[in-house]
Amino acid sequence: MTRQTLPNTKPIMCKIIKKEEECEDTFTFLLEIPVKVQGAKPGQFIMLWVPGVDEFPIGIAGFENNVLEIGIAKMGKGTEALLKKEVGDYLGIRGFYGKQFQVPREGEVNHLLIGGGFGMTPLKMLTTTLIKQEDKQEIHVFEGARTKSRLMYLEWFQNLHDAGKLVFHACTDDGSYGYKGYPTVDLEKFLQEARGSSIFYVAGPERMMKVIFDIGKKYDTVIDMQMSLADRYMRCGFGVCSYCAVDPTGWRICVDGPIFNTKQLEQITDFGVYKRLETGEKERI
Ligand SMILES: Cc1cc2nc3c(=O)[nH]c(=O)nc-3n(C[C@H](O)[C@H](O)[C@H](O)COP(=O)(O)OP(=O)(O)OC[C@H]3O[C@@H](n4cnc5c(N)ncnc54)[C@H](O)[C@@H]3O)c2cc1C
Ligand code: FES
Repeated sequence: MTRQTLPNTKPIMCKIIKKEEECEDTFTFLLEIPVKVQGAKPGQFIMLWVPGVDEFPIGIAGFENNVLEIGIAKMGKGTEALLKKEVGDYLGIRGFYGKQFQVPREGEVNHLLIGGGFGMTPLKMLTTTLIKQEDKQEIHVFEGARTKSRLMYLEWFQNLHDAGKLVFHACTDDGSYGYKGYPTVDLEKFLQEARGSSIFYVAGPERMMKVIFDIGKKYDTVIDMQMSLADRYMRCGFGVCSYCAVDPTGWRICVDGPIFNTKQLEQITDFGVYKRLETGEKERI
């Protein structure tokens, strides 16, 4: 039997079949799912259980033949424990959760993927999907990091750029790779010169996403902005605890998001302003 999703109640234990250093403090893991499950979509996430430590949300970087790709950046005790796991160890997963990026099936549009940090994981999966679509489109990926060693999937994106599949705009704060500065610099340059309509797909720190949102609003050619509000606290992942609700709509990021479009983002008054901590208290972004 092929399942649409995995159970909410109990994590399915999956074997790590590959572990690879992706960039500084960040690893790619391939997990073999032991039950047949139907396609994860770009933008969706799983709840990942590290036995004896914690359970937390993690984006999906790829999914093929029942093998799930994830990219983990070291943050605190949970991700640190996870990064110590090796091939042959088991991790629990629930999911696939949340809404996906919405890609128009036809028409001429510039797809602009903008991100940084672990935000690049859903953008990797989206890139794979867009390249397969092969319609009249331009794909541009704008990635920023502090320094070269922290650019996630650098080689992967650079190879696709060299093969003419997309245009990769890399930048770093210290100028060690690409141009020195933020992804917004090349993005604005592109928007000033671009022909036709553009759609933004953004994933990264929320403060960066808000700046990008404000840039996009200045251009009539930007027909939609889809952003992943993954910089938020989550507990259940499937809509029951309300830990991830946003003001004033009450939308739960785990089921109503994490991908929100322009119209929705305009209604979320805490977007780029504050988020809730594990305790429920507000913290400025
Ligand atoms: C939809 C979504 C997708 C994500 N995708 C990825 C990914 O692909 N790769 C990746 O490395 N990280 C991802 N994260 C972030 C990841 O969940 C946190 O980095 C992780 O929970 C940190 O746990 P920790 O114990 O290592 O750190 P802690 O020391 O517990 O916390 C460090 C920081 O991580 C955040 N955090 C902690 N617990 C949670 C939680 N339950 N939910 C959300 N944030 C939390 C908080 O902002 C906190 O300040 C994603 C988060 C969300 C909401
Ligand atoms: S994490 Fe529980 S409702 Fe979203």
